[in-house]
Amino acid sequence: MNPSLSNSRIIDESRQGEPFYSTDSETLTSPELKQFYIESYGCAMNFSDSEIVASILTECKYSPTREIEQADLVLLNTCSIREKAEETVRKRLRTIDQLKKQKPGMTVGILGCMAERLKKTLLEEEKLVDLVVGPDAYRDLPNLLNQVDDGDKGINVLLSREETYADINPVRLQSNGVTAFISIMRGCDNMCSFCVVPFTRGRERSRDPFTIVSEAEHLFGAGYRDITLLGQNVDSYKWIHPETQEVYSFARLLELVAQVHPDLRVRFSTSHPKDMLDDVLHMMAKYENICKYIHLPVQSGNSRILSLMNRTYDRAWYEDRIRAIRKIVPDCAISSDIIAGFCTETEEEHQDTLSMIKWADYSMSYMFFYSERPGTLAARKYKDDIPEDVKKRRLNEIVQVQNEVSRANLARDIGKTFKVLIEGDSKKSDQDFKGRNSQNKMVIFKKIPGVQPGDYVNVLIEDATSATLMGRAV
Ligand code: 5AD
Ligand code: SF4
Repeated sequence: MNPSLSNSRIIDESRQGEPFYSTDSETLTSPELKQFYIESYGCAMNFSDSEIVASILTECKYSPTREIEQADLVLLNTCSIREKAEETVRKRLRTIDQLKKQKPGMTVGILGCMAERLKKTLLEEEKLVDLVVGPDAYRDLPNLLNQVDDGDKGINVLLSREETYADINPVRLQSNGVTAFISIMRGCDNMCSFCVVPFTRGRERSRDPFTIVSEAEHLFGAGYRDITLLGQNVDSYKWIHPETQEVYSFARLLELVAQVHPDLRVRFSTSHPKDMLDDVLHMMAKYENICKYIHLPVQSGNSRILSLMNRTYDRAWYEDRIRAIRKIVPDCAISSDIIAGFCTETEEEHQDTLSMIKWADYSMSYMFFYSERPGTLAARKYKDDIPEDVKKRRLNEIVQVQNEVSRANLARDIGKTFKVLIEGDSKKSDQDFKGRNSQNKMVIFKKIPGVQPGDYVNVLIEDATSATLMGRAV
């Protein structure tokens, strides 16, 4: 199996575990400040949370560093979604423990989903960390750090029904200055049977839309041109105005953010097939700057498995949603998450997933084999009975089919011209720019004079692989 496939999903998997750092040289050199170093694992929400944590820490006399050896405080913002994700962090903690032996004053903390799931275990049994902070407790960090300074351990894993960090202005670290995430809600109420997220991130709650719009305005003013509204299930975004009782749905929020400026591209993730209704599609069609791309995880192409997964839709419903997208937003690209080898899945049911990938014509998918998570509905109700070699073989077949579908999907773009937002130099050559089109497809093209990251250019597509479009500016 391709090892990168077992990683948790983030927008750019190559960023897994990379440190956040500030580009502000003043904060990097100020001598009286203590320095913190933070690594993020898992989903985009964790990367976004690390920016909130950085903001809280900079308010209490910490400055960011990119050098772990220089740090007084080392934080890992962790993911529990699959066993492999947790193993990666445990391994990293053991390496950091060696470093700590050479630098005894160093504080090591664990944030995010593993902190919430394992609570005291990492403090007491394995003694690898000094600080354990769950996703809703970041405001308590200054207080917990004081406790650690006084020789105690610091732990806060309380989940909240209200916390959205709405008033915190995230410190944009590790940024390309063009694209940014805005967290619009937290938690999840869905209880998909395989998923640990409702246990680690708590109940779903939506953030005040006016704080979201003002964050988008601020980003646009600072030169950002592409924002992604983040939530576990964005379609169930719902905020009620405390005075007027007016209801703000996700479609309404999208419109408010799209109106910030026509040159600000708006993306969102993740959509849930049961909640993704036509109002959002009509809003996408109405505004050119709402990107024509939906990440709509199917998980399985078989209705019996979807029912065991507690996804609350069946294949027919999912197909209806895809038809609605094709009709209302004809140029929309669709991507998916897929799980191979869920409990009791037969070969025929696995074939249904393969046929779904072909039918839906996904531009790309994040593909995983099922990993049983303690405490989830599936762990309590069903036996994890598909042998690992079968899961891996099915995953390989899924990956192969998706690659073929992606290749054909991207090949159909050859000859088309797209408006591309330049994000920076291409990884392979500083003679080339990379950027994305509205459909979230990566586009590589030769640099031309007079344009820079943050500019839009029209690019005629001349060639394609299964993941990238190549062309020239026209
Ligand atoms: N095993 C494998 N994949 C999982 N996902 C969530 N939980 C599990 C699990 N226990 C996948 C789903 C989800 C994505 C974020 O991770 O496909 O959409
Ligand atoms: Fe997990 Fe399902 Fe919620 Fe996504 S929608 S976070 S898969 S429970």
